[in-house]
Amino acid sequence: MPENILLERRGRIALITVNRPEKLNALNIKTRLELSEALDELRNDLEIRVVVITGAGEKSFVAGADINEFAGRTAIQQRSVMKARSVLTAAEDFPKPLIAMINGFCLGGGCELALSCDIRIASDKAKFGQPEINLGIIPGGGGTQRLTRLIGEGKAMQMVLTGEMIDAHEAYRLGLVNEVYPHTELESKTMDLAARIAEKSPVALAMAKTAVKNAARMNLREGLDQEIDLFALCFSSEDKEEGVRAFLEKRKPEFKGR
Ligand code: COA
Repeated sequence: MPENILLERRGRIALITVNRPEKLNALNIKTRLELSEALDELRNDLEIRVVVITGAGEKSFVAGADINEFAGRTAIQQRSVMKARSVLTAAEDFPKPLIAMINGFCLGGGCELALSCDIRIASDKAKFGQPEINLGIIPGGGGTQRLTRLIGEGKAMQMVLTGEMIDAHEAYRLGLVNEVYPHTELESKTMDLAARIAEKSPVALAMAKTAVKNAARMNLREGLDQEIDLFALCFSSEDKEEGVRAFLEKRKPEFKGR
């Protein structure tokens, strides 16, 4: 049984809660491992079509890597910890949509976890930042790469060089989060969105996620070629037949994920 995360299934949606509220849900090695294991479990769970990740308590999504684990660690040790099994890469490669439900501090590795998700929904109380520079280090989980691709070099550079926090409205203005809701509405609005996505074909969702991610991984020509391949691959699914038939029969499709 995991100790630092909670995993709850609500129909087609799984909710993962990082559960160390007394440490503002900071990611220690054990928590990262448990997150990776939860994603492994959900990857093969045919019932689950969308995964939401959040933090326990009222105050924090994830306040970064657990700084206690940095003390005394050598460069070689740190590198192997980070390269061993990155939950951030697992999230990016996860074949189902991942939504970060950001309920408070979203800092350092927490911001990087949110950046590895596909959609970010924030409470109006959320605060964002890459404060690593204040510790004499730099972001190491995509904070210089995914953040820059998402909001542009100038603003990413400012966040990384100053380590200062921005509020949820500024994060929205920059395109760092998709939506901002009053704190009390965060869960219902996020779950509504997850439920709407969970109605779609899981096959098409996986293809769509890969195709959109390819935009940052490939040049335009490669990305367009891949898009055609993924588009064509959808034509091998029962879900495509069902989707087209349902449209022609003027009814709602029932996607089976086949
Ligand atoms: N790693 C380890 N512990 C952390 C942590 C982190 N990233 N972030 C918070 N905590 C711990 C605190 O040490 C404190 O533990 P304690 O009660 O045993 O002393 C507890 O969580 C509560 O945090 P506290 O600092 O008292 O809350 P606050 O409301 O005064 O401040 C923050 C909140 C987020 C501004 C502050 O905790 C902070 O700056 N955290 C570090 C953020 C960071 O640099 N992250 C990137 C790491 S690379």
